[in-house]
Amino acid sequence: MNEILLRITQLSAEITNALNNAQTEHELEQVRLKYLTRSAELAQLLAGLKDLDSEQKRVVGPQLNQIRDQVFRLYDECKKQLQDKIYQAAQKRKELFDVTAYNPGVLHGSLHPYTIVNQKLEDVFLSMGYTIVDGQELEDEWHNFDVLNIPADHPARDLQDTLWLELPQKLMRTHTSNMQVRVMQKQKPPLAMLCSGRAFRYEATDATHDYVFWQTEGLLVNTDISMAHLLATIKVFLQAVFEREDLAISVRPTYFPFVEPGIEVHMSCVFCKNGCKVCKYTGYIEIVGAGMVHPNVLTACGVDPKSYSGFAFGFGLTRLVMLKYGINDIRLLTGGNLEFLTQF
Ligand code: PHE
Repeated sequence: MNEILLRITQLSAEITNALNNAQTEHELEQVRLKYLTRSAELAQLLAGLKDLDSEQKRVVGPQLNQIRDQVFRLYDECKKQLQDKIYQAAQKRKELFDVTAYNPGVLHGSLHPYTIVNQKLEDVFLSMGYTIVDGQELEDEWHNFDVLNIPADHPARDLQDTLWLELPQKLMRTHTSNMQVRVMQKQKPPLAMLCSGRAFRYEATDATHDYVFWQTEGLLVNTDISMAHLLATIKVFLQAVFEREDLAISVRPTYFPFVEPGIEVHMSCVFCKNGCKVCKYTGYIEIVGAGMVHPNVLTACGVDPKSYSGFAFGFGLTRLVMLKYGINDIRLLTGGNLEFLTQF
């Protein structure tokens, strides 16, 4: 019996100590779980009372009950004290709250680099009488390929890794050239349009490739349109975007099925004078694909190639933005990293 009494005294001291040492509501809860639940030692001792003989019961019973009442009362007091402490701290914070205080943590919004460059482009083209159009991203095979002189068995289809949808003949557009077709089908010439938007390709992502990127497409159809108009237009907008009047362009022949002749426009390097890594020591950077709209495309869109001619150009807006701001990783543009974005 002495052993039980000794244990009861020890336990009482242990619990009292633990309760008094609890500094937070969480700590107090840990003490409750350890000592005051039904499965804790104290409850076990109380439950064991019924197995003691009447002499033992007479001595142990009252002690145990008294200790139980004491520790539960202490628990309630500690709980109340902690809650008061929290309440008072909150009151104090309210009193000290200064509505006029300067908060240096406020973030200010800024335009995304895509928006900045696109607005600049739109300004330039609006000033030349172009219409700005918006186009669909989910496209059909016909508008993305067939009308653009790229039949199903044409090797040029392999140049663009297509993201096909599980809908018959539907895909995510691989370029913004679909908008040449949609505009020509809707509007009679003379017409001039500019369209920026997302294009999609089945590619692995790395610093310079992403499966979603931005392209800008331009189209002009009128009587007597020549390559000279096209080159002047490209030069003017590149000079405006890079804010460099001395920016020069150079032209090389290339192949796009929907233009004839097709050209690749290179601009003088904006990073160096005598060659650097970006221009691969050539002094020029490839930037725009373009050409005179192929007669087959005009015909398929209901424009008579005998009366009208036109030019089209397309470039990676993503690449233009990266070059303008010296961004070396395409993933920064879509990553949502505020440290990066708030620089603009
Ligand atoms: N659509 C072409 C591409 O994605 C670019 C282009 C547009 C070329 C218009 C010529 C004319 O590479």
